[in-house]
Amino acid sequence: MIPTHRMKILVTGAGGQVGLDLIRRLRGQGHEVHGSDVIERPAGADSDLPWHRLDVTDPAMIDALLGEIKPEWIFHLAALLSARGETRPQLAYAVNQTGTFNILEGCRAHGVERLLFTSTIAVFGPGLPSPVPDEVPLLPTTMYGITKVSGELLGAYYHRRYGVDFRAVRFPGLISATLPGGGTSDYAPLMYIEGLRSGSYEAFCRPDTRIPMMYMPDGIRALAELAACPREQLSRSVYNIAAFSPTAQEIADSVMQALPEVSITFAPDPARQAILDSWPDALDDSLARADWGWSPEYDLDQMTAALLPEVKALVREIATAT
Ligand code: SER
Repeated sequence: MIPTHRMKILVTGAGGQVGLDLIRRLRGQGHEVHGSDVIERPAGADSDLPWHRLDVTDPAMIDALLGEIKPEWIFHLAALLSARGETRPQLAYAVNQTGTFNILEGCRAHGVERLLFTSTIAVFGPGLPSPVPDEVPLLPTTMYGITKVSGELLGAYYHRRYGVDFRAVRFPGLISATLPGGGTSDYAPLMYIEGLRSGSYEAFCRPDTRIPMMYMPDGIRALAELAACPREQLSRSVYNIAAFSPTAQEIADSVMQALPEVSITFAPDPARQAILDSWPDALDDSLARADWGWSPEYDLDQMTAALLPEVKALVREIATAT
């Protein structure tokens, strides 16, 4: 689909789990997209994708890049995820909290029209009703969750105070054929990736662990659709989005049913299990559905069918690279 307006878009954290899939979709829609990250251009990026080195903890670097590119929209993905954030809380604070503040300041100073932010189920703490609605007390237990709550609140402030059109989705755990990095929901993609790569995977959680999950193409579509929605249709800035909420055992069963030779076992890691137990098991996304027509396409088994060929290709790539 070619949009009526071709937007100039900057994606931060573009080398992470979400970035390249999102960029592919935005470019497919005809937008001019620039990728940025602290890391060099990843091998999987299109060779003609403009790529910029950007450390979001450095306001001068943001200022220079926004001055150079003059993006109309920013998708701000740069962050340390929950598990890595617990091993380096100070770095997580710098990248996630100060980094988001720096990006918002950049939006204000350079007149960036729209900022899309990736929030998370990790903004929630224990003891909430299920499914969790959008508006509840946000009392996360991880540094990652705390910085994402702060990002949501800062974004709403910059919207009210400076007119930055800030919009966010709260992502469930995302599953795709990309090596995940530092998330507590990583056991889910790793069941597919390690299952196919080595024939077995020992998950770091209990089999009865249940958190909201989503197949990456649904997550990417959610971000792109929220970005394109007329502002007057939005009753809030931050939306829960949901797809399915399987137990870890159900994900393992879905993999092992499709690949009977794969064995998935469980050896819970107390630190990561505590994080998983602090998250809700299901999200209420009725406001996203009502306001901007959100609806997921994939359930667990549909995801498994779509994902396995993609993971096979990834495993071949990893084997060739090593
Ligand atoms: N996938 C993220 C994590 O595990 C949750 O947003 O940290």
